[in-house]
Amino acid sequence: MDNSKSKCVLLTGGAGYVGSHTIIPLIESGYEVVVLDNLSNACKGHIKRALMPDVARGPHVFKTTGNEGQNPVPISQVEKLVGKPVTFYNVDLLDYDSLSKVFDKHNFCCVIHFAGLKAVGESCIIPLTYYRVNVSGSINLFQVMKEHNVKKLVFSSSSTVYGEPQFLPITESHPVGQNLLNGYAKSKYYIEGIIQDLCNSDKEWFVIILRYFNPVGAHPSGILGEDPTGIPNNLMPYVAQVAVGNRPCINVFGNDYNTVDGTGVRDYLHIMDLAEGHVSALQKLQNANENGAIAINLGTGNGYSVLQVIDMFSQVSGQKVKYAIADRRAGDCASSYCDASFAKSYLGWQAKRTLKEMCEDTWRWQSLYPQGFSTKK
Ligand code: WQD
Repeated sequence: MDNSKSKCVLLTGGAGYVGSHTIIPLIESGYEVVVLDNLSNACKGHIKRALMPDVARGPHVFKTTGNEGQNPVPISQVEKLVGKPVTFYNVDLLDYDSLSKVFDKHNFCCVIHFAGLKAVGESCIIPLTYYRVNVSGSINLFQVMKEHNVKKLVFSSSSTVYGEPQFLPITESHPVGQNLLNGYAKSKYYIEGIIQDLCNSDKEWFVIILRYFNPVGAHPSGILGEDPTGIPNNLMPYVAQVAVGNRPCINVFGNDYNTVDGTGVRDYLHIMDLAEGHVSALQKLQNANENGAIAINLGTGNGYSVLQVIDMFSQVSGQKVKYAIADRRAGDCASSYCDASFAKSYLGWQAKRTLKEMCEDTWRWQSLYPQGFSTKK
């Protein structure tokens, strides 16, 4: 099939936090979106499964032992926002036949590959599951893409492939794959290497690898957000749960780093800036006459400390966010933030939203869903 004029995009893992937020600007930009997700961290309740009758459910739905993963945002919430149904397949990337059938049914111009397990701590407990789901699942996807002549890809990678920063701000030329501390980061690094080899072997591939810094926040409507199952692994959702009264206090992992106030500094990026970055990458894939694989940092280029985030969240929520200073967390670095200039020069994208907006939009969602998607106030 000639897909050069198609505007149909497949989002693997599109029911997750980043994927579901990305559907919105994609549809607003005129793309037709198809979502594929195994819902391995499926949240209960109102997920609308618009299953196509002849595509089997993925038999390999892995239940990860941990619950640090992030709940897929119910597809139905996205449909409320975009005002139209989103084609959804409950398929696992490890289910080769079902995956291939999805490609038989749609003329995809491109794939945005979000699917994967992403809990750093959990990846140290069950590394084989992380390599099977993330790496083998990606290999299946790339094979099916090749068989269907779909050779444009946006890959969801992570700043963790840089390991402990050797210099700041982190540019795309920073070494990768050195001293990676967990299976999650290694799986992302391995997949980037597989993509490079694939592009070297077949010059028709054009891949943009997006290395996310710290995605946080929620769609401003308040009906989408980050809804981790169980105890949040990451800072922002934990702070939000303290502010809303679900948790009494947050532990600040160390205040003796060489930073502005001794607490860890990160490059927090609003989820809607991140979502828009994927649209910019897709448009680049479609409009530039290039090939090969290119890695791009998606961040703001600014770093904020844990205490600065807690303080901002207290301000916007009007709630005192109680915290206690605790020991450092294994694997944490003092500071990580990027040089975002290449994303601006190559994609014409830059982050627009402030830390205040990240906290305001998170608070709006958390106030609407104090217990997460499973219940609504
Ligand atoms: C941020 C800061 C903590 C929780 C991780 C993944 C990375 C990416 C983003 C996917 C650090 C401190 C946290 C808490 C705390 N995910 N903190 N108390 O570790 O920078 O990155 O999420 O791509 O892959 O590694 O984010 O939000 O966990 O931590 O003090 O309860 O908040 O020490 O300084 P991190 P985080």
